Amino acid sequence: MSSANPAEGNMPAPLTNLKIQYAKIFINNEWHNSVSGKKFPVINPATEEKICDVEEGDKADVDKAVKAAREAFQMGSPWRTMDASQRGRLLNKLADLIERDRLPLATIEALNGGKLFPHAYMMDVSISPVILRYYASWADKIQGRTIPVDGKFFSYTRHEPVGVCGQILPWNFPLVMAIWKIAPALCCGNTVVIKPAEQTPLSALYLASLVKEAGFPPGVVNIVPGYGPTAGAAISSHMDVDKVAFTGSTEVGLLIKQAAGKSNLKRVTLELGGKSPCIVFADADLDTAVEAAHQGVFFHQGQCCIAASRLFVEESIYDEFVQRSVERAKKYTLGNPLNPGVQQGPQIDKEQYNKILDLIESGKKQGAKLECGGGPWGDKGFFIQPTVFSNVTDEMRIAKEEIFGPVQQIMKFKTIDEVIRRANNTHYGLAAGVFTKDLDKALTISSALQAGVVWVNCYGGGPPQAPFGGFKMSGNGREMGEYGLHEYTEVKTVTIKISEKNS
Ligand code: NAI
Ligand code: MG
Repeated sequence: MSSANPAEGNMPAPLTNLKIQYAKIFINNEWHNSVSGKKFPVINPATEEKICDVEEGDKADVDKAVKAAREAFQMGSPWRTMDASQRGRLLNKLADLIERDRLPLATIEALNGGKLFPHAYMMDVSISPVILRYYASWADKIQGRTIPVDGKFFSYTRHEPVGVCGQILPWNFPLVMAIWKIAPALCCGNTVVIKPAEQTPLSALYLASLVKEAGFPPGVVNIVPGYGPTAGAAISSHMDVDKVAFTGSTEVGLLIKQAAGKSNLKRVTLELGGKSPCIVFADADLDTAVEAAHQGVFFHQGQCCIAASRLFVEESIYDEFVQRSVERAKKYTLGNPLNPGVQQGPQIDKEQYNKILDLIESGKKQGAKLECGGGPWGDKGFFIQPTVFSNVTDEMRIAKEEIFGPVQQIMKFKTIDEVIRRANNTHYGLAAGVFTKDLDKALTISSALQAGVVWVNCYGGGPPQAPFGGFKMSGNGREMGEYGLHEYTEVKTVTIKISEKNS
């Protein structure tokens, strides 16, 4: 996720008359009520008001969706017999439709996801077509190989789609995560059953309407809004789901792997949390490092898996770095993310809000120095003041646990060996950053860090062609890039005996 702040010039205003049109379960290109008859409320986190009710999917709805996805995947179906280039054209068409509907989609992301409207418009909704087009161009280039074997045989590989893929999404990048999941899956010829996060189902359901309009055959994309322990667990334990891709907490990642192990050993890819280190050496360009480290943790209210939430600063520049970071963090205008000029919106829900406030309290109690912020903001909505802690030590909870909030932890280090050891002393391994002008240091650190992504003299961002994923308990597998395709294909080896009659 890029951490640059888009300029607000040329920005259209969000829609004020947005009507939520899509709030049902999407199966076989049709809108369904839930089997149970239940609905659940969707909340605007800036106001705590209900936006609408959405049909609540559960096991019975997941069963219907999986059946539709399985039928769409049968040999001889329109999807299985489709020319691979046509799959690419459909993905390109979906990209065009998202571009056409940038305004409603960005308005939904801001209203439902608490995302700053300029970010939603310039980043989330703008990057989504780019990702779709990247994978659209792969659709007819996924090739097997011929294998050199004994001359009496002919052997080749086919890269086949895995089958019905369950895709369970988080709430921090609701549209982008839906696209991250469906683009490679559909490009390879799979069918999908998506469960958006219960907090943010609205952009995925809007996307469903565009999937239908683009002309994907029925059953290729199915979307079942609902809760994790019900609809989510029904996907991960389903006997007829061939793969699950999940983005969310490590805690639920563990449950999903267990569910796969207890059911049909479905393939599992996981993109989980992090406690990513960002290391600043004394020779770094300070302006760049202060701003990048700041954006690295404060972007989208700190609700990013890659959040640079352990900042290690070399001793000789520590005091100045803290002072500059505090000045930067104090500059925020908080408020409704749909309003112009607002720079920080709300946390996604009460649960996250309470979790973050509890961690801030733990920081105070465990002896970190509170430099600014440190509490809630406003009288409605889930807002938290931008908070900076200095004198943080490694054993404090704020230095160990994923906070997922606007809270920066600044630690001090003396030597390169020490900082490498401390940076790696975590179960997580998603991302890392290093700031230095010394190439040797940059190379040493980027080789030594146990992380799936390392940024040097920058933090965050990455095009769809660059793979993304975690070491250790930050996940399994990679998304994006060519690596992302491998997670959605099975390799089949075909060996043919050549008749000896002709020899
Ligand atoms: P979560 O992991 O509970 O939710 C993510 C998705 O998993 C949602 O769609 C949810 O409905 C689903 N889910 C929940 N329980 C499930 C189950 N038993 N089986 C199948 N699916 C299930 O994350 P939550 O509770 O929203 O946030 C907790 C923490 O997780 C955050 O504070 C943050 O630290 C981390 N997180 C990390 C994200 C990332 O981008 N890697 C995104 C969201 C949360
Ligand atoms: Mg949870």
